[in-house]
This record gives sequence, C-alpha cells and structure tokens, in this order.
Amino acid sequence: MSESYIQNLFAQRIGGNQYGKSNAIYKFEKIKRAKRAAMAAQPGQEILDLGVGEPDEMAFPQVVEKLCEEARKPENRGYADNGDEVLKQAAARYLDRVCGVKGINPETEIMHSIGSKAALSLLPAALINPADYVLMTVPGYPVFGTHAKYYGGLVHNLPLTEANQFLPDLDSIPAEVRSKAKVLVLNYPNNPTGASATPEFFARVVGFAKKNNLVVIHDAAYAALVFDGKPLSFLATPGAKDVGLELHSASKTFNMTGWRCGFVAGNPLLVRAYGDVKDNSDSGQFLAIQHAAAHGFDHPEITEKIAAKYARRMQGLVRVLANAGFKARPPKGSFFLYVQAPRSAEKKDGSRMVFHNAEEVSTWLITEKLISTVPWDDAGAYLRFSVTFVAKDLADENRILSQIAKRLEDVRFDF
Ligand SMILES: Cc1ncc(COP(=O)(O)O)c(C=O)c1O
Repeated sequence: MSESYIQNLFAQRIGGNQYGKSNAIYKFEKIKRAKRAAMAAQPGQEILDLGVGEPDEMAFPQVVEKLCEEARKPENRGYADNGDEVLKQAAARYLDRVCGVKGINPETEIMHSIGSKAALSLLPAALINPADYVLMTVPGYPVFGTHAKYYGGLVHNLPLTEANQFLPDLDSIPAEVRSKAKVLVLNYPNNPTGASATPEFFARVVGFAKKNNLVVIHDAAYAALVFDGKPLSFLATPGAKDVGLELHSASKTFNMTGWRCGFVAGNPLLVRAYGDVKDNSDSGQFLAIQHAAAHGFDHPEITEKIAAKYARRMQGLVRVLANAGFKARPPKGSFFLYVQAPRSAEKKDGSRMVFHNAEEVSTWLITEKLISTVPWDDAGAYLRFSVTFVAKDLADENRILSQIAKRLEDVRFDF
C-alpha cells in the first residue's frame, strides 16, 4: 500500500511526517523485551521485579467501601467539572494536619486533579509561550517539560548528583537561561533518586523564584511516604504561596494509582489558571472517586502503614545490596533505592562483564539473574530498585530478599 496521506498530517511536535518511523527503542520497552527474553530462556524461573514504579497492593478496604457508597449516590453521577467542596476541604485539612501548612483556603487555593500526571500536562498551557525556558531536574519525571516543548518552550536540565545530595544547583543556571525561565519543576521525595529536600533548600528556592520571577511547581507525589519525621511540604516554606503550587496525589499515598485523583494547591491565581485550562480539557474526576480520595486524605494513618512497610523492605534491600558490594544507603522517603551502577561484574566461574552504562547493567541483571531494575544514565550511571515488589506476606517478602542475595552471591561487582 502506498504511504497514507495521514503520514503528512502529523504535527512537528510528535515528529511531523517522520512520526512512527524511528526504530529507536525506549528504555522501558527495552526492559520489557529483556524480561520477556529472560523468561523464555529460563522458563519456570521467577523474575524478581524491582523495577515497578507503583504500589503492589490494593487501596485499603475502607477507601474501597467509601467508593461503593459514594458511587450509589445519584447526586455524584454527572460531570464533576472542577469538583465540589468535599476533596478541597479534606485537602486543606490534610495540608494543615499532615504537612503543617496553615491557612490554605479550600475555595480558592485548592483544586482536584485527575492525578498529578494530568496536572503536569495541563499546567504548561497556562504558563508557557514559545521560547520560554522550563528548569527541569534530571533524572526525573519529564511530563511538564514534554508539554512545555509542545507549546514551543525550551527545557534546561538541572542534573541531580550525589555530590549535591540530589538537589539541583541553582547557581549553575546560566544568566541567559535564568532571564528566559518561567518555571522551575521540583519533586521531593524524588523519583528516581529517593532524595528528600530540606526546609533550607526550599527557602532558597523561594528566594530564587522571587529574584528571577519564576513559578515553582513542586510535585509532591511521594510526599507522605517518609520513613521518619513528618512529610515536608514546599507550601510550609514562608513565601511559597507567593511563587508556586504543590501537587499531591492519592496514587502512591493510598495505593490508588489506577483511580486517578489528586489535588493542586497554592497560589490562588495559579490555581485559577490551572482550573481554567482544566475546565477546557476534561470534565473532572468522578465525584465518588474524589470523595473516596478525600476519605484517604482524612486518614493519614493509611499512608503511615504503607510507609512502615516500605521502610521495613528498604532496610532489608539495603542490607542485601550492601552485602553484594553496592553503595546502598536508605533514603528518607519514597519507595526507591538509587544506587551507583557497577563498572564490571566478575562471576566465580571467572567470566567477566564490563559495563559502559547503567542500561547495560540492568540488561545483564535481568538476563543473567532475573532481577529487574530501572537504569538511569542522565546524571551518572545509576540503578533504581523499587521496594514495591509483589510479596504476599512478610515471609514471602523475606524469601524474595534472600533470593536476591542468593542470586548475587557468585558475583563481584567493581565500581
Ligand atoms: C514524580 C512523579 N510525579 C507524578 C507521578 C504521577 O502521579 P499520578 O498517579 O498522580 O498521576 C509519578 C508516577 O510515577 C511520579 O513518579
């Protein structure tokens, strides 16, 4: 069949008339293929999957019950548009009680999202003109930057390095970029590094934003998953509401990734602009889901239980990886353990493998050891292990950790 005229209709932002023709395989697809090949090569063997980026368990029964109850109410049936007051009020209570953020007005300073990914994809429409710069951290969650580029914006990457505790070096940004930058996107606890911010860093960010006329978007998807102490909200920083927004999500906080619900909070003018773009893009999340999420935000003990489980698994995983030679240190939050990738691996049988990047290590681990991880090569070579691996109970969890140890027993890694 001759080439369809449709091929010439695609917008430049997705590749124009070259759309779909590239043979490049992206990282996550490569991992999937390597997993399939490893399973075919070693049938019946268990894959130890530490590459997943979402909770292994269902939402808590009380939240599921709440959804059922709310789904039966006729008044919840229709378009939710920008939402009712239920989630807004629960979100304001949550910010106050859990994050110590006082005085948020639920009417004007909070609005629901259909998950933080959706909010990050909508916000550039409100802020980005062609040639505006967005400051994004790498490695990181790229959605805001991708959409900013759709609008003709430019992305300036800020590497997250161990030497700087995986916080961006704001002083490194060239004056030319700073003068054209409109938005700084941050995410702490961070995916993939697992790093947490500090009140001092957030205070510097507020000062930097005011000095350079920037909006700060803080993606707090993992905010409440902390292993000791209280969650740290950007909005708890004096002056934060003058410069930005914080995005919270029920996905990781209450094991509700598939439900698609969260909220945006902060500067009222920014919340309003987000609401205007949102109103022109979707018709809101089902009110029954919003009300079930609100129940979650009113029950932070749910997140504390989830975080306790991750903390326990993290301790075990750090021990296992440290024994295998990795420089593994437990993060203060999230469910990610980010470790430097080895340069080579030598097995007891004398075979030696030299790695040029983290992707090669990850492929080797899945092929040779059936251990799945996510490689990151954006700012140094690192592997991300997630403690959301599936285990049916505590004994199974310990069995999986022992399995990892056993599979790495005959290898000496060099870093
Ligand atoms: C940093 C970060 N932000 C946002 C999201 C998406 O969150 P949500 O499920 O609320 O869209 C993820 C999910 O993996 C994430 O890692």
